[in-house]
Amino acid sequence: MEELLRINDVAKSFGSLRALDGVTFGIKDKEVHILIGPNGSGKTTLINVVSGFYKPDAGSILYQGREIGGLPPHKLYAMGISRTFQIPSLFTKLTLLENVLVADKGNPGESFVKSLVKRAWVKKETESTERAMSILTLLGLDKLWDGPANTLSGGQMKLLELARALMTGAKLILLDEPISGVNPTLAHEIFGRILKLRDDLGVTFLIVEHRLEIALSYVDTVTAMALGKVVAAGKPDQVMTDPKVIEAYLGA
Ligand SMILES: Nc1ncnc2c1ncn2[C@@H]1O[C@H](COP(=O)(O)OP(=O)(O)O)[C@@H](O)[C@H]1O
Ligand SMILES: [Mg+2]
Repeated sequence: MEELLRINDVAKSFGSLRALDGVTFGIKDKEVHILIGPNGSGKTTLINVVSGFYKPDAGSILYQGREIGGLPPHKLYAMGISRTFQIPSLFTKLTLLENVLVADKGNPGESFVKSLVKRAWVKKETESTERAMSILTLLGLDKLWDGPANTLSGGQMKLLELARALMTGAKLILLDEPISGVNPTLAHEIFGRILKLRDDLGVTFLIVEHRLEIALSYVDTVTAMALGKVVAAGKPDQVMTDPKVIEAYLGA
């Protein structure tokens, strides 16, 4: 498996606080990679840097071999990198289908203005709607398609956020705490669906999650951080028994 993303010596400080301090690791194409570490170790900051929400102070981030460090979110999104937030950012009054449709790169509103050919617009709209429905089906949300997003449970909102990321055509999806506050049954279902998306659509995932008792059995690779640095990386069993990782959690 080749690498889809390579992070080399990335640093990010807030004032005198080094949130990321020489972070180096790689993510292979089509793997499910989890980033773990005690609170405050820099996980969300790393997601923010990779998705363009923060500029790194130093270091390099290569995506498909191209330097992307410091590019703004919309450029990264056009290149196939999409993310979700710790707190879902949905349009609560829109239906599920509408929430997914607005994530489409050339959504109907935009292409309607661009293309003066009405027929092309109708065709595009039909294709987009079909694609949005098939994504909702993949995530088990299709039966709820015409209800407003604010009627969903917390776990279903996480799934809808994932649906929106897929609609952008993303190849690399960054998920910040996809199962936090989600009941165990739905949490397992979410991870099951993540694996299916990887297998069926070839999506690569970088996931921040602290509910390791659920998440670890689904992931290929673990990178563990503490105080802004990577302390271990490898297969789940290997990383979870690493003394440096145990120490990081005990010390936190
Ligand atoms: N925007 C910010 N401004 C100032 N400090 C921040 C900001 N974002 C994160 N931090 C600090 O950086 C450190 C790492 O935070 P974060 O990346 O959120 O950790 P994690 O997600 O691993 O819990 C923490 O000490 C946090 O307080
Ligand atoms: Mg966080």
